Parts: sequence; structure tokens; C-alpha cells
Amino acid sequence: MNFEQQKKQKVEEINAFLTEYMPEESGKESILCEAMNYSVAVGGKRIRPMLLLESYKMFGGEGRTAEPFAAALEMIHTYSLVHDDLPAMDNDMYRRGQLTTHAKYGEAMGVLAGDGLLNYAFEVMSDAVCKQGANAAKAMAILAKKAGVRGMIAGQTVDLARNGKEITKELLDYINERKTSALLCSALMAGAALAGAKEEELTVLEQVGNLVGLAFQIKDDILDVIGDEAKLGKPLHSDEKNDKNTYVSLIGIEQAEATVKEFSDRAVELLATLSCRNEFLEELLLSLVTREY
Ligand code: IPE
Ligand code: IPE
Ligand code: MG
Ligand code: MG
Ligand code: MG
Repeated sequence: MNFEQQKKQKVEEINAFLTEYMPEESGKESILCEAMNYSVAVGGKRIRPMLLLESYKMFGGEGRTAEPFAAALEMIHTYSLVHDDLPAMDNDMYRRGQLTTHAKYGEAMGVLAGDGLLNYAFEVMSDAVCKQGANAAKAMAILAKKAGVRGMIAGQTVDLARNGKEITKELLDYINERKTSALLCSALMAGAALAGAKEEELTVLEQVGNLVGLAFQIKDDILDVIGDEAKLGKPLHSDEKNDKNTYVSLIGIEQAEATVKEFSDRAVELLATLSCRNEFLEELLLSLVTREY
């Protein structure tokens, strides 16, 4: 099987267990569960759960131990998108090729579905921690922190504050390291922690995730300008609409593309300093440079 076929198969595997971890649509709050399930099931590349699982394997992890954490991470990521699309934030109507959650279910349900996804992620992880013990607790702590007040939420906060303002590269990196790198770091680190990786190894993975996230967000900002809406599944020019300066407005498309490549190459070089290897993971990281969606 070539890389693309392998990746497709892995997405299918992730989708299969992810569905099992989602809440049943029952009770008088059934609509909440429906909106949560809709947000997750409409699609998505599943990069974060894939990174978590591949990192787990890289450090010798086997079996289904990492699955609840991979599912929880995709729930957290999806909640961040649902809230990011709200009228009070980026105000976007399409996501993953379908109406955004608030566009389909109303704004209040957009807020609640996001709340639900974030909390449910911790319900799923804490159940797993009770069964699995110390490595699992470590993984949950990593995910909590990286998604949190000094992590992804901090990035989204500073991101909003930049609307309509000139921006420096330094501030852009501060935003991107939090709003995007943090969850990608958490994927690599939590997967490794579940397999019992050492603290020094987690530190290397944190740096790898940081670089991958910077590259990933700059690529996202490039695609926001020159991408194909049908492939992306979300509207172009969202950044311009919200008067957001990005690497693209700062240094232009070509330089921004070169920066994506530079950060990605550095990430893969750093990954190669670890004593274990995962060729699929290396290829996956490199493929994020040329992605079209
Ligand atoms: C979108 O993430 C938000 C960013 C951090 C740029 P993805 O590009 O991974 O979105 P999905 O999960 O594939 O929809
Ligand atoms: C959002 O960045 C990152 C999140 C933490 C959700 P963007 O606002 O650029 O993401 P898209 O373009 O809407 O996916
Ligand atoms: Mg945003
Ligand atoms: Mg957005
Ligand atoms: Mg974007």
C-alpha cells in the first residue's frame, strides 16, 4: 500500500472508533448530542488523532489503549472549530464541506455543542485513566494543558485581539504556537506518554509539534487565500473578512510557502534525533507542506 492508501485506511479506522466514543442521541437533550455528532461526523482530516496513534506506535505502544485519547483529542479539536466559526469569532458558515454547527442548529446550540464536545472528551479520558493508570493520567494532563488557558484557548484569545491591527512575526508565532501548535504537540506527546516515553523524549516531541503547528497554520493561512473552496470545505478569505494579518499579508505567498517548508523540514530533522522511528509519521509530517486541504 502506498502512503495515500495507508492514510485513507487509518482515517477509516479512526472514524470507526471515534463514532463508538460519541454520545448516543437520546434523552430530552438529544438535540445536543445530535449537534455534537454532526460536528464530528461531517468530516475532517483527523490529523491529530492520527499523530497521537502514530506517536504511540513509534514508542512501542500496541493494542487499543490510545484510542480513547485519540477520540478525545478529535472532540477537543472539533469543539475549537465549532466555537471558532461562531458569529462572535470568525463568523463562518461552512466547515468540513457542510454548514457549520451554529448555521445548522442555531447559535446557542453551537455554543452548547462545543461545550459538550470539550466536556465529553474529558468524560471519555477520565474513564480510560481509571482503567489504565499512570501513563493514561499523564496523557490526559498533557491534553488538558495544551488545550487550555495557556495553550489553544490562549492562542484563540490573542488571535482575536489582532483583528484589524498590524502584526509582527513574533506575535504571529506566539498566536500560532498556541492556537495550532499546542494541540498538535499534545497529540505527539500524549501518544508517546501512553507508551511510556521518557520526559526528554516528550520535550523533543513538544519541539517537533511546535514546528509542525507553525507550518500547519501558515499553510492554512495560505490556503485561505489561494486554496480551492471545494477541497477545503470551508470558505476562502475568512482572514481578510476578519481583517486578520497573517504570514501571507506580512511576507507574501512565496515566502510564506518557503517558511512552511523550512519549519516542516526542521520538525522532521528533529524527529529523526529520537532513537525510535516511524516512517509513516515522517511522511505524514512532510505531506502537510504540500496539502491542498
Ligand atoms: C483547522 O484544522 C484549524 C487549524 C488549526 C488551522 P484542520 O485543518 O486540521 O481541520 P480538519 O480537522 O481537517 O477539519
Ligand atoms: C483556528 O485558526 C485555529 C483553532 C484553534 C480553531 P483559523 O481560524 O485560521 O482556522 P480555520 O481557517 O477557521 O479552520
Ligand atoms: Mg480563527
Ligand atoms: Mg476560523
Ligand atoms: Mg484559517
